[in-house]
This record gives sequence, structure tokens and C-alpha cells, in this order.
Amino acid sequence: MCGIIGYIGNKEALPILLSGLERMEYRGYDSAGLAIVNNRSLLVEKSVGRIEVLKQKTKNKNLYGNLGIGHTRWATHGDPSTVNAHPQFDASKKIALVHNGIIENYQSIRKMLEKEGIQFESETDTEALAKLIGFLYRGDLESAVEDALSQVDGAYGIAVIHSDEPDKIVAARMGSPLIVAKGTDENFVASDPAATLEFTRDVAFLNDGEMVVVKHNEIKFKKQRKMITKEFETLAYSLEEIERGGFDHFMLKEIYMQPQTLEETMRGRLMLKEGDVKLGGLRDVMEQLVKMKRAIFLGCGTAWHAGLLGEHLFEDLAGIPAETEYASEFRYRNPVIEDGTVAIAISQSGETADTLAAIREAKRKNALTIGIVNVVGSTIARETHAGTYLRTGPEIGVASTKAFTSQVLVCAMLAVKLGRLRGKLSHEEAFDLVNAMNELPSKVSEILELRDQIKAIAQRFSQARNFLYLGRGYQFPVALEGALKLKEISYILAEGYPAAEMKHGPIALIDENMPVVFLAPRDPLRSKLISNIEQVRARKGIVISVCNPNDQDIRSISNEVIEIPQTLPQLAPILSVIPLQLLAYEIAVQLGLNVDRPRNLAKSVTVE
Ligand code: AGP
Ligand code: GLU
Repeated sequence: MCGIIGYIGNKEALPILLSGLERMEYRGYDSAGLAIVNNRSLLVEKSVGRIEVLKQKTKNKNLYGNLGIGHTRWATHGDPSTVNAHPQFDASKKIALVHNGIIENYQSIRKMLEKEGIQFESETDTEALAKLIGFLYRGDLESAVEDALSQVDGAYGIAVIHSDEPDKIVAARMGSPLIVAKGTDENFVASDPAATLEFTRDVAFLNDGEMVVVKHNEIKFKKQRKMITKEFETLAYSLEEIERGGFDHFMLKEIYMQPQTLEETMRGRLMLKEGDVKLGGLRDVMEQLVKMKRAIFLGCGTAWHAGLLGEHLFEDLAGIPAETEYASEFRYRNPVIEDGTVAIAISQSGETADTLAAIREAKRKNALTIGIVNVVGSTIARETHAGTYLRTGPEIGVASTKAFTSQVLVCAMLAVKLGRLRGKLSHEEAFDLVNAMNELPSKVSEILELRDQIKAIAQRFSQARNFLYLGRGYQFPVALEGALKLKEISYILAEGYPAAEMKHGPIALIDENMPVVFLAPRDPLRSKLISNIEQVRARKGIVISVCNPNDQDIRSISNEVIEIPQTLPQLAPILSVIPLQLLAYEIAVQLGLNVDRPRNLAKSVTVE
């Protein structure tokens, strides 16, 4: 997730590139860079941090030229640093490339090119593609890009320039967004129309597998090396609407991104045939992980809920004793940490003060520390011994959604990996698990189709004063997460409970005004859960069940059912949480509340 911009025309490229990058900052920024062609050579500037830093750096420098590309990076491979920032270059330093996405087979490309004597500078996957294009270049950028892309697996939106061919930008898309914007005697490429809206509203959206060669007065679209025609459309929406991708709120956009973000989390990491998982960031510590005696998951809020699921997954799939601690409690408890303990911090931002302090405490007591973090190069990512990134792109809505599902998925991938290495999981079991993971994105898409139905439920119950969320086993942390989502953005008091625990107290709350959300997918605990539903019905509570299709038993005892596709019980939380995110969202909208910025909350809590 990042922003790409390219300009070719009769104006100075620099201010246009900078303003385009600024408009795409919401897509993520940990570093940025640009390259401009001037007199058959490349002028380059890169910086770490916000676009403002790049802007200052380019001031009073002679970065003149009418052709250029720029990038705001949201790192997936390699820390945010100037050498890892884009553009990346070929060996001759004449080709500059900006990239959004992940080149999955970058390691094998890199090895092949290194054998040819080509030296690499950065840790990025992107550099492998830049160097490959240079390696294949025979005087024609267009065909070199085509040849290189035919050898690449993964996702990309790219823009490429060559200082010896100062009349064109070559751009292509596979899995990451890319648009071409048409002006008068000038044209643009970008990840997002927000970048070019101030210059033109005429835009063509590239589809996967399409490429474009953009000159100042000509735009040529291609697919599989053949010319194709594409229509331009005139955009009617405002800049803000474009940033939100046409959604009313960032939270809704992020809920809807989950098929794509889960895909990114798994990209290049699943071995479907072998029934195994590759987690590059943990390679160096894998031996220690396999031998671990105990895992402690540390996190706050939503990340803590992901930890609770990590705990179940580790015990269930890898046979590792595991527990989950509130990061804020852990550090003040003088925890006993024996040899062989691994502390696993889960954090979207990587900056949460409590989680950071907990991981420092674990480290002080000699535990191996692992980070499951979204923001690359964040403090927790840097201070842990090793880790795995979520790769979901920046999360802007204060209520965490897409980070949660990817946190759980990473825990599941790690549990499968360790389960295999510890001999706890058979090939067949692991095979079923990774293949079920692979099907999650399309199942999430199916659930997102239910929005209207969930909106209708929200309309019926948005005036409720309290809500109860109940689940058992793998669904208990989902109950907690559903309740937290509702509390955060609708200010309705919501409680999550293990369903069986209800009768030990919360049952006193139940009357005909109390909606109770049951998490009831088909799993080994479903029959027990049915008894818990009956207990609520007997007290006239309103039963809203999240279940699998055609479950007559659940249907017949529920006031409302939300049917979600079935998957393995270990992965079901990734699906069952989606309707709860939507329910919380729709209720908050009904109540006219500020969904993206709920009162009293901050996106990243850097105080204790
Ligand atoms: C989630 O919706 C919350 N806003 C909050 O609980 C959050 O998950 C928590 O503050 C932890 O943040 P982190 O993942 O950035 O560490
Ligand atoms: N994978 C690339 C990198 O880490 C691109 C990331 C992005 O999309 O910003 O450099």
C-alpha cells in the first residue's frame, strides 16, 4: 500500500509530483522519493518520513525536468530508510522504478542477478524488479518491462522511466491500483485519482494484466503485449470521497478491504501443496521458536483479542502452552519468565506504550521477543528480536478492523508452521488449514454482501441501551471484539462473555429489551451453545445469531440470523468478526456518530 505518481508534459514535474504525493499520504507514508529526467540523466531525491521532509529537501535544488516519477512508501520489505525508499534503480542507474505491492519471487530473481554479477543495495523486493528490467533492457523500455513482468509473481502497480528514453513512462498493474489521467499536452499515472484531481478529471482505470505507455500527447494501452483500447471517464467526486474510495467512512472502507488485506498477509507465505507456511521474518529464530516451552501473547484492546486467539491456536495446532496478557498488567506484575519463554507482541501501530513496555520487560528477563506488527519500522518492530508484518496498509479508522483479521491470520500461520515443525500437525491437517486460509478472502467477500441485511438489524436495535455478545472456544474472543467495536463507536454498553459463563451473572441483565449476539458457527461446541441460546430465549432476550447457512437448529431459536460461509473452526473467527464490525458500524451511523473519530479515543495510544 503506497502511492505512485508519474508526470510527463510541458510543465516542471517536481511540484506536480510533490503535490500528488501529498494527496496520497493517507495511503501511508514512511518514506518517499522521486526521480526526474533532466538532459538524459536522472535527478533523484529520497527521504524518510512525511512528504513535507522530501519537499524541504528538494527546495533550492535544481530538480528541473518535464518527466518524473514519485512514490510514498508503506514498507513491506526492509525498513523505511532512504536506500529502501523508491525509486529503485537498475544497475546502470538509468532506469528508475516505483512500485506498490509485493514481488513474491524477488529472492530467486535477486539470486539469479547476483550470479550475473549485479550488486544490490536495498532490502526491498522492488529492487529485484528494477534490476531485472535493466538486465533485460536492449534499447527499448517497453519490451524490457514486458519481459521482466512475465518473470514476476506477486502484486504490483509500477511506473518506470529510462533516462535515455525521455519521452515516456511505462506503467503496469497486477493486483495494486493504477490509473492514467489525461490532460492537455500532459499526462499522469497514479495509484489513485486523488493525486491528479487538481490537474484533470479524465481518468482511465487499469485492470490486472494491463500496461500503459504514456507520452505527453499519446497514451497507448496494452494487454499481453497487444494494443487494446480503453475508455476514459470524467470523475465527479470530491477529493475526500476519493480518499475514502467512495465509502462514507474510512472504517467502512477498511472493513471492505479485508479480502484484499488478508490476501496481502498471505502473499508468498502459503505453501498450498506442501501444507506449510513460510515466514521470512522469523527464519533466524525458528529453531528457538520450535523449542519454546511457553508463549505469552501481549497486546491491548483489539490486539489483545487477537492474542487470545493466538493462544488457542498455539495450544490447539502446535501443542505449545500459551497465555495472553494485557500488556499494561503484565509489566507491573513482576512476571515469572522461565527459560524457553517467547513473548509475542501484537500491535497494529507498533507504538502502543503499554505493549512496548511489556516487551521491554520480557526482554529484560531474557525472553525471546517476537512482533506481529502492521507498521514497518515502528518501535515494537524494531525492539523485538524478530517478527512478521501484517501488510494491511495504513489503518485510519480508529476502530481496528482489517488489522485484527490479519493479526489472527498471522497467529494461525505461525501456529501451523510450529505445529508442523514440532510434529504436532499431520501433513493432511496442515494442508487443510493452509488451503482453508487461502479461501478466506473470497468468503469474506461473500459476507460483505450482507451489508443491507445487517443494516436492517442495526436499524431495529440501534436504540438498545446494552448489548451482550456470547461465544465459546474460538468464538469467545470474537464476542469480546464484537462488543469492543460497538462500545468504541456507538457508545452503547456492550459486554462480551464466554457463553457458558453468562449463567453465572450476566443472565440477570436479560429481558425483552436486551439484544444478545451469539457466535454460532458449526464447530464442536455448537450443541452446547444451543443450550445457552435457549437460556436467553427463556428470559425473552432478543437472539441475533451469526451462524453457517442452512442451520435450522439455530434459525428456529433466533430472532435474527446472519449466515456466513463455513470454514475450519480455527479460522472461523476471521469470518465471524466481519458481521460484527459491520453491525457496530451501521449502529453508529444510525446514531449519527463520528465513526472514524470516536470521542475520547486515539488511533495510537502512546501514553501508559
Ligand atoms: C481497537 O479498535 C482500538 N482502537 C484499540 O483497542 C487498539 O486495538 C489498541 O489501542 C491497540 O493498538 P495497537 O494495535 O496499535 O497496539
Ligand atoms: N514492497 C515494496 C517495498 O517494501 C513496496 C511497498 C509499497 O507498496 O509501498 O518497498
